[in-house]
Amino acid sequence: MTTLVAPSLHIDALKDKLERRHALVGVVGVGYVGLPLAVEKAKVGFGVIGYDRNPIRVDQIKQGLNYIRDVDDRELAEAVECGKLNASTDFSSLGKCDCIVICVPTPLTANKEPDISYIRHVAGEIAKHLRPGQLVSLESTTYPGTTEDVLLPILSRSGLKVGEDFFLSFSPERVDPGNARYTTKNTSKVVGGVTAACLEVAACFYSQTIETVIPVSSPRVAEMTKVFENTFRAVNIALVNEMALLCDRLGVSVWEMLDAASTKPFGIMRFDPGPGVGGHCIPLDPFYLAWKAREYDMNVRFIELAGEINWTMPYFVREKIMRALNGIGKSINGSRIFVLGVAYKRDIEDWRESPALKVIDLLGKDGARIDYYDPHVPSFTDEHDVMWHSTPLSSDTLERADAVLILTDHSSVDYASVVEGASLVVDTRNATKLVRDGRDNVVML
Ligand SMILES: NC(=O)c1ccc[n+]([C@@H]2O[C@H](COP(=O)([O-])OP(=O)(O)OC[C@H]3O[C@@H](n4cnc5c(N)ncnc54)[C@H](O)[C@@H]3O)[C@@H](O)[C@H]2O)c1
Repeated sequence: MTTLVAPSLHIDALKDKLERRHALVGVVGVGYVGLPLAVEKAKVGFGVIGYDRNPIRVDQIKQGLNYIRDVDDRELAEAVECGKLNASTDFSSLGKCDCIVICVPTPLTANKEPDISYIRHVAGEIAKHLRPGQLVSLESTTYPGTTEDVLLPILSRSGLKVGEDFFLSFSPERVDPGNARYTTKNTSKVVGGVTAACLEVAACFYSQTIETVIPVSSPRVAEMTKVFENTFRAVNIALVNEMALLCDRLGVSVWEMLDAASTKPFGIMRFDPGPGVGGHCIPLDPFYLAWKAREYDMNVRFIELAGEINWTMPYFVREKIMRALNGIGKSINGSRIFVLGVAYKRDIEDWRESPALKVIDLLGKDGARIDYYDPHVPSFTDEHDVMWHSTPLSSDTLERADAVLILTDHSSVDYASVVEGASLVVDTRNATKLVRDGRDNVVML
């Protein structure tokens, strides 16, 4: 089935709706990426429906209740109250939307291969309801080629023609959770369209809420840009982690070295070592690229090597704890270890893929008795499906611990009191850097 309407009429009609903020936007997958996007669009006047297969999230949105830290509670509640934002588990109304943005997860399989089943599933649902004049934009991070080789064939089952009847683009999300300076609005957005018309419509859609839109020549370039950005971080974090391993052997403080190196006014960019990498991006996305590269007879060695080093870090933290306890005549087995922070980075509540989980698992297997405190993570479930609950941070808990292990440097923690109250502190994040005196009991990564 093809329509008899001239393609330019679809473009003009959609652009006009976008510019007048009359378009209805569907956001599929309202998590860390989708919910901020949905609220941002509703705030400027678009009607927005958030689609999710998780009925709890949908109910929360319907009640105006926020569950993502980077979203402002009041802005979400207001958007729902004034009828601009709604949510649904039922995909049958997708046909009403003028623009559909896909923000579903892209995890790895157990064998560390891309799992794009979520994208495929959503694409199938959209194809059932696709109508002329719609824009579909993929934001989930994925390997180069997904939009054109996976998404497009599924959407084309509708009989509609891309660039003429409907428009398709890829625009990677660059959100940095917890970053107050760079938000969805002032972080520039790369956009690639399958055709020139797709790019024109997608750029118009994004420029309604984002200050700077960066058009590129194809979805492939946009997909590659996103995975390169995350690979860049993964590789640089691995480099500095390897330096931490070397500095440990040399008896040099990696933190002091980094402070000194960072004084160079050009040619250096600071990355800090730590207990490993976490979150939904850095540990996963580079492997999407490595997997794709193998199809082209290439092993992207930097990625494999960076993964190898970053995965080593929880084991190195275990070794550090073991040596620190050994220094006071104790072993991991039977020791009480109090973990400070399980989120994968400072001041956020996300513990997905957090290296803290691996460290806790390793220490538990060695017989440690572990409690944790995280002001942002009241509870989490480990890989054995055991639920953990945060223990209050008090002078008692510090005193009782044989070692306090800092795995996340949340800014609300009073590290001077931690150093003062604990008999031994192992600091993997340089969280205690401002504690100048009485730090003989502190062991740094
Ligand atoms: N979190 C980040 O900081 C970040 C940053 C940039 C890019 N990304 C990428 O964005 C994508 C989404 O990540 P996220 O962190 O928002 O994930 P998330 O898990 O927070 O949210 C995804 C949502 O999609 C829903 N979902 C899953 N399958 C669905 C389906 N078939 N239909 C409808 N809804 C479905 C889930 O229930 C969930 O609410 C991923 O590709 C990720 O790599 C994430």
